[in-house]
Amino acid sequence: MQFALTREISPAIARCELTHLERVAVDLHRARDQHAAYIERLHAHGRTVIALPADPESPDCVFVEDVAVVTDELAVITRPGAPSRRDEIVPVARALGYFRPLIPIVPPGTLDGGDVLRLGRTVLVGLTPRSNEHGIAQLRAALEPHGYSTHALRVDGCLHLKTAVTAIGDHALLYNPRWIDREALASVSPALAAFELVEVDPEEPFAANVLRLDDTLLVPAAHPRTRARLLARGLTCETVAADELAKAEGALTCCSILFTG
Ligand code: GLY
Repeated sequence: MQFALTREISPAIARCELTHLERVAVDLHRARDQHAAYIERLHAHGRTVIALPADPESPDCVFVEDVAVVTDELAVITRPGAPSRRDEIVPVARALGYFRPLIPIVPPGTLDGGDVLRLGRTVLVGLTPRSNEHGIAQLRAALEPHGYSTHALRVDGCLHLKTAVTAIGDHALLYNPRWIDREALASVSPALAAFELVEVDPEEPFAANVLRLDDTLLVPAAHPRTRARLLARGLTCETVAADELAKAEGALTCCSILFTG
């Protein structure tokens, strides 16, 4: 069975963490409608959705991806880089504990799941203000016995690695060259050097975050130029409105943890 773990939007989202964006008002009703449409897409693609309730004390709790990294073998419970987000791990760990052995990231390590991009047994991790060398080393140690190789990559100008790059196929990435270096990506391994690298449209810097659901890419409606690039490559895209949570510096992958059970 394929699962998607999600979490409802906190009524306190107006106090969310912001790193690269100016604070603007988030319309909570509109954000909830968009989030419901996102969850509907998960259902439509065969995911059994585990929807956790929001925490009024955790403004960013909808961005559930940041608090766990789940593989077929285990779940690493992160230690989010923003102290305001650390309480978010408790209900997510409780839920994932039914499915996987849990391994926590411990101080001085910090890790946000938004910095972790799994490509088969290759794991890329953004070295960012949210994820430090200690956290990456702990993730590597957790995954190495299961055959994963973990590689740190510098990210500049955006919040997370997956703001800058996500997978659009088994051997293809969508990325923003201003935020992640093409050569650095290619230097990870000969296999990664052979990946097709598709650039976002320069007018849509946030377009690199798409959610891959089997053979379909869920793409934000706000990025039509980049969607056109994907369609031109024969990729199947479905559009969702995600502009309200984008104001909270969150994107499509941030709102779910996908795993099999
Ligand atoms: N507002 C999302 C984050 O900063 O983690």
